[in-house]
Amino acid sequence: MPATERSKVVDSIATNDLANDARKAGERVGLTGDTIVIRGGKPLRGTVDVRGAKNLATKAMVAALLGETPSILQDVPAISDVQIVSRMLEAYGVAVTSPEDGVLVLDPVNVARAHFAEIDALAGSSRIPILFCGPLLHSLGEALIPDLGGCRIGDRPIDFHLDALRAFGAVVDKSYEGIRITAPDGLSGANIELPYPSVGATEQVLLTAVRASGVTELKNAAIEPEIMDLIAILQKMGAIIWTEPNRTIFIEGVEHLKGYTHRAIFDRNEAASWASAALVTGGDIFVKGAKQLELMTFLNVYRKAGGEFEVAEDGIRFWHPGGALKAVQVETDVHPGFMTDWQQPLIVALTQAEGISTVHETVYENRFGFTEALVEMGANIVVHQDGLESLTRRVPRRKLEQAAVITGPTPLHAADVRIPDLRGGFSYLIAALAAEGTSRVSNLGLISRGYEHFVDKLTDLGADFTVEA
Ligand code: EPU
Repeated sequence: MPATERSKVVDSIATNDLANDARKAGERVGLTGDTIVIRGGKPLRGTVDVRGAKNLATKAMVAALLGETPSILQDVPAISDVQIVSRMLEAYGVAVTSPEDGVLVLDPVNVARAHFAEIDALAGSSRIPILFCGPLLHSLGEALIPDLGGCRIGDRPIDFHLDALRAFGAVVDKSYEGIRITAPDGLSGANIELPYPSVGATEQVLLTAVRASGVTELKNAAIEPEIMDLIAILQKMGAIIWTEPNRTIFIEGVEHLKGYTHRAIFDRNEAASWASAALVTGGDIFVKGAKQLELMTFLNVYRKAGGEFEVAEDGIRFWHPGGALKAVQVETDVHPGFMTDWQQPLIVALTQAEGISTVHETVYENRFGFTEALVEMGANIVVHQDGLESLTRRVPRRKLEQAAVITGPTPLHAADVRIPDLRGGFSYLIAALAAEGTSRVSNLGLISRGYEHFVDKLTDLGADFTVEA
């Protein structure tokens, strides 16, 4: 088959895979339609509730595997990533129940080996399985990791995870099924320095070190608020963990951990997404549950771009004060920098700012793919794959300098677009809500991976739309 034909076939397989992922993700949370038809040009106004963070709740659920008694997690969002992790835990014998909305009880007393096919079928759409390694090695002596999913935003390797597990004494073998990890001599505390403060690899080390014998020193750790919340959970379970300046974490292994009761930290990414939605639609949204401290960097950029906000006891109000928005220069970074997950919705708002905005993406190698559809909708965005200039980084790292240059303001007009990933997908929604005319946005299910009840929330905010199968 000629190369062009082959690449067309590969593209069409990828498009079908994405549509399947989207359908399954939607079904997991009871979303019936695949396409949202949006009649745009109406400001979003009202209140949305933001509950626990996707990027904490899913990890907290894995942590429950380490306890000898049941754990209770509160403020759990109704999103499909939570559903996937629930099913995976069940496959390993954990009893997962939900006595009331937003509460999960996770009982690990009967943990057992799972059927690989079952894990493989679930893992296809999530990055979380890699985090099962440490807890499974402690309880079963073995972990099998299938091919990992998650958003298509770059290579997303797992080399830091595997190197860390090897440092604890684990043996990593490639099998035809995936990766098989064993610990014939048990797991012992280690000195680990991450090449980059990876969120996932830091969680891997925490979840493994808490029950490894001896002390683990982790240098160049990620210190995102969700990591601190995971540390708080592990401490409640009986772990001994302390942090030192300069991204260093010490973990003293203990033999036994018990279950925890914990309210998940709020979802900073969802809060920032609704804030950008208020800005681009000229609206006014009170994000109940949002907190200032964890959003400090975002709030500075929001203000510089011309957005207004007001911090209240129980949330933050975000609004467009009228007049022109202002261009900003942003660089994504590890915490306390500007999160990579905040850039996509913000870029939609920046299409309406006067002047030239630049967003450098330094965390992932391929997170501007979503801008193509915005250009189709009238935005002036040029992506420079190799970046524009070498900036001084908070954390120096491999060459990831992708930059998007957004020149505005350019009115957005309606289009038919297909959602590529979670955050890009939310951006399409708000672009369509801001655009004049009727847009059709498909692969809607992908948004339910990380935004709970988003269709109901859009209704509450006064959006004009219908959802179609
Ligand atoms: N990396 C490696 N090797 C590894 C691990 C990571 O090279 O073994 C690289 C990645 O390729 C990437 C960078 O390190 O370039 C950062 O990756 P990190 O491990 O920090 O990210 P992650 O744990 O895979 C989590 C969130 C992401 C969020 C990032 C950064 C979850 C489930 N995912 O991913 O969230 O963007 O941290 O904060 O917690 C999202 O919610 O939409 C999302 C993608």
